[in-house]
Amino acid sequence: MSNPRVAIIGATGAVGRIALQILEERGFAMDSLRLTASHRSLGKAMTYKGEEIIIEATTPKLLAECDLAFVSANDDISLEIGVLGPQQGCVVIDDSGVWRMDPSVPLVVPEINADDVGGHKGLLAIPNCSTTPLAMTLAALGANNPVKRVIASTYQSVSGTGAAALAELNTQAAQVLAGEPITAEAYPHQIAFNVLPHIGSLKEDGYYSEEVKMRQETQKILHQPNIAISTTCVRVPVPICHSETVNIEFERPVSPVEARKLLAEFPGITVIDDPANSEYPMPINAAGTDATYVGRIRQDSSHPNGLVLWIVSDNLRKGAATNAIQIAEEIVKQRAWLR
Ligand SMILES: NC(=O)c1ccc[n+]([C@@H]2O[C@H](COP(=O)([O-])OP(=O)(O)OC[C@H]3O[C@@H](n4cnc5c(N)ncnc54)[C@H](OP(=O)(O)O)[C@@H]3O)[C@@H](O)[C@H]2O)c1
Repeated sequence: MSNPRVAIIGATGAVGRIALQILEERGFAMDSLRLTASHRSLGKAMTYKGEEIIIEATTPKLLAECDLAFVSANDDISLEIGVLGPQQGCVVIDDSGVWRMDPSVPLVVPEINADDVGGHKGLLAIPNCSTTPLAMTLAALGANNPVKRVIASTYQSVSGTGAAALAELNTQAAQVLAGEPITAEAYPHQIAFNVLPHIGSLKEDGYYSEEVKMRQETQKILHQPNIAISTTCVRVPVPICHSETVNIEFERPVSPVEARKLLAEFPGITVIDDPANSEYPMPINAAGTDATYVGRIRQDSSHPNGLVLWIVSDNLRKGAATNAIQIAEEIVKQRAWLR
């Protein structure tokens, strides 16, 4: 049986680079690997398994010569390749937000809804990087005790905005420490030594788009459109990993002991919860790993059926590249590509 021919569209970006690394780490079997990026990167080389691969342009011919494409570029490219890829016989796994809520596009976290992969029509999407760890936590805890309401606040790293924002954090930190004037392009304000309660575009109801995505995507992945979810998304000057505080109200009471057990048993979740010894998940430990880490699990003092907890997850890995590659693994397992 042949293996898929694969492309990474946006291979030089924050997520694309990690995807290349994870394909190698996981030993993803491929008959060929093509890499594309913008005109700025054409002709440059990236290394896969010690071999150089030259960056190409994204053309219909390239897509026709591939079975699977990871699209990790920007909204315009995702809109275009989401249509062109399937037309050329190439299954697209899209990282952007443009296709996620399309009813014909499976939005997949394989630990939760791998069964949705089989229904694809050539295009699948990964969730937003702050949605994935929340959805996994709710899936773990809500299997036998339905979740009624969720209040979440996020602490999201700058790599969630891409490679340019990560570089800007480093530049600004150096500028502040040197007493130099700040240059700010990635965000409307300085991010170094600051926090911004603003991710995405403002909606009429006062929420920013990232907050709407967390709500709608979580409901879609869990197949539970009636869970009440309100989030506040905040950008913090952390390089990699998104953190979240989450208050969850269940139909019935759940003890922290029971919650720790359910979470520890769920695939992809690791519990680190020993606050007396100052042990809890933190970005500096979670960065570069694939688990969704949960800690600070306690009864919500404001509701008898409530829990409060703290989640940390690497936004470039499980929040993006790892999840996309897990979807590809499901497609291969189910032999669900187009040719
Ligand atoms: N960052 C995260 O944590 C995260 C998490 C989940 C989902 N996502 C989504 O993943 C996607 C990529 O995000 P990122 O953070 O990796 O962004 P990024 O660091 O800004 O990288 C963007 C990539 O797109 C490439 N690109 C630009 N124009 C292109 C074109 N015409 N054809 C092909 N490639 C082109 C860039 O190439 P050059 O290097 O040549 O400019 C670069 O490789 C976005 O849709 C984002 O919403 C990101």
